[in-house]
Order: sequence, then structure tokens, then C-alpha cells
Amino acid sequence: MTSKVDLRSDTTTRPSAAMRKVIAEAEVGDDVFDDDPTIHLLQERAAIIMGKEAALFVPSGTMSNSIAIKVHTKPGDEILLDSDAHSMINEVALPATIAQVLTRQFHSTSGIPDVEEIASYMRKETLHSPGTGLLLLENTHNRAGGAFIPLNIHKALWKIANDSGVPVHLDGARLFNAAIAAGVDASELASCADSITFCLSKGLGCPVGSVLCGSREFIFKARRVRKMLGGGMRQAGMLAAAGIYALDNNIEKLSEDHRRAKRLAEGIADAKGIELDTTSPPTNMVYFNTKMAAKDFANHLSLRYDILSGTTFFNRIRLVTHLDIDDEQIERAIIGIRHTGSTLGV
Ligand SMILES: Cc1ncc(COP(=O)(O)O)c(C=O)c1O
Repeated sequence: MTSKVDLRSDTTTRPSAAMRKVIAEAEVGDDVFDDDPTIHLLQERAAIIMGKEAALFVPSGTMSNSIAIKVHTKPGDEILLDSDAHSMINEVALPATIAQVLTRQFHSTSGIPDVEEIASYMRKETLHSPGTGLLLLENTHNRAGGAFIPLNIHKALWKIANDSGVPVHLDGARLFNAAIAAGVDASELASCADSITFCLSKGLGCPVGSVLCGSREFIFKARRVRKMLGGGMRQAGMLAAAGIYALDNNIEKLSEDHRRAKRLAEGIADAKGIELDTTSPPTNMVYFNTKMAAKDFANHLSLRYDILSGTTFFNRIRLVTHLDIDDEQIERAIIGIRHTGSTLGV
């Protein structure tokens, strides 16, 4: 029996033996009492990597974004974010429910915001209208094919936000992918934001967790909101140990995921029955449209070839490379997709 090739998401990785060892051996305490030494270590490490004063370990990227939006804004503010941002589409209306803010959506070209458009949206509170309370950016941009926002655009947006007195939160669930693709240090991208979150549970291969970074004052407030949302964890040093292991060992491996995504895209570029977005995926995601229902394509691929894919729209499929995908699996995926396209696409 062949094993499944799971390309649904980079969240599907399983902790390696080495990661499980550090999890088993982690020194722990009660983190709600701020007593867990391994969580302290992870938070200190993350703050240094991002060039921020402090950091907070949180259960998920969604909770991290919720906390950031809530801390930066007051109810009735307006936040600016991409119409396809994860916080807009996939976080169960959290800006409206948890922070009680209005969302003003901009449309980016390939995940890269238009600086002048953003500038035109900045506004002060008046008798009639809400004021801009936050600019939320996503890098890499999931639904825009894993696109990355280059540093010069971040710098321009940072200046506009600063000039308008508006804080910036960076949803960097895959910030290290963005940094590698942009050829810069993650801290340079983070320097253009007041707060930044990155996920340990995506390409970095951890079972759970994200880290929110910012000023000491921001993280102090964030800790209270995390508690309010039920995200205070106890002996979670076991999870933080996995995070430290990932920061030490798995960041550099992300470039392998990018290389494999490119090979995958090139291998299916002329496949029948599909229209590939690009043969040069910016990071670790390959998107294509199907000429038949995406769910039928995905079912065939799974049942016939043991290749798991993600359907993001009725005719759209996403494939994501990650730590648990090797070169041989990429070649299997290419064959499976080509055959599926030929079988169903005529
Ligand atoms: C860009 C982005 N932000 C935030 C999240 C949320 O992360 P989590 O699944 O840990 O809540 C995701 C998840 O895929 C994401 O892609």
C-alpha cells in the first residue's frame, strides 16, 4: 500500500521524532502563573527574531489575529484589510464579533496592496464616520497563491500608516516563507508593523501554536485578551519546546518547500483539464482552476492516486508543499494530477 501524499495544507505535518523528543523532555510550569520556563524561552527567542520587545505564545493564528485586532482598536473603529485576507474570509467574522470593528476591504493585485489606495482609505473619526483603527496585512497571502509582499511595499505602507497615526498588524502566519521569497530577514518585514504573528503549526512542522510579537505594552494587553478568549494555557511548555526546535531547525527547510512547489507547478503546467495559475509559484502553494467541479477532481485524485488536495472554490484547487512532502511524492502528485486531468477533463 502506498502512503497518501497530503498536499491539502502545510498544517498537516506531523512532529518528527526529534521534535517529539524535545516535547517529551521539556521543562514545564503553569503558564497562566507565568511560570513555564520553556514558554519564556520561546517567547524571548521569537521576540529577538522579530526585533520586537516581547512575545506571547498563543494556541492559533486565528486567536493571535483576534487578540491583535482587539488590542489595537476600540469598538466602532474601522480596520483596513484585504477582501481575501484570512481574517476576512476564514476567521468566523472575528473582527465584527470579538473586536466589534467595521471592516473596510481593499482589493490587492496578486496579494500586494496598492499603496495609494490604502492611503486614500485612512480617515479620522468624525461625527458621521468611524476612524481607521488598524491596517491589517497578510504576508504571505494565502488566497493570493502564497504571494509575498515585498519589503519596499511594506515600508511604503508603514509610512502611510504612521503618518495617519494608524497601527499595523501583520498576519505573518507564513512570514518565514515570505522572508525567504523576498530575500530579506523576517525582522525587516516585522519592522514595518506594530505587531506580528507567525505560526509554528504550518510550514515549521509543530503540532500547535503561534507567536504574537510587539511592544512590551502591547503584549501585556494581549496577555489579558488571550485569557479572556480562553487561551491561557498551563503546562504548554511541551508545545513551546516544539516551537523552539522548529525555529532552530526548520526555517531553512522552507526553501525546499518552495523548490518543490515550483517543480510541481512545472510538472502539471500542460496537464489537460486544468488551468494553472503560474509555473513560478511565489512560495509553497500551487493553485489551479479545474474545467470540471473541483470536488470531483479532488475525489478522483484521492481515491485513484492517494493524493489529497484542497478545494478553495467550486473550480479551484490548492496544493501546498511542506516538511512531510519529499521529491518522490511530488513526482507521484504530478502523475496523479496529469492522469486525473486527462481522465476527467475531456
Ligand atoms: C494567512 C493565515 N492567517 C491565519 C491563519 C490561522 O491560523 P490557525 O489555523 O492557526 O488559526 C491561517 C491558517 O491557515 C492563514 O493561512
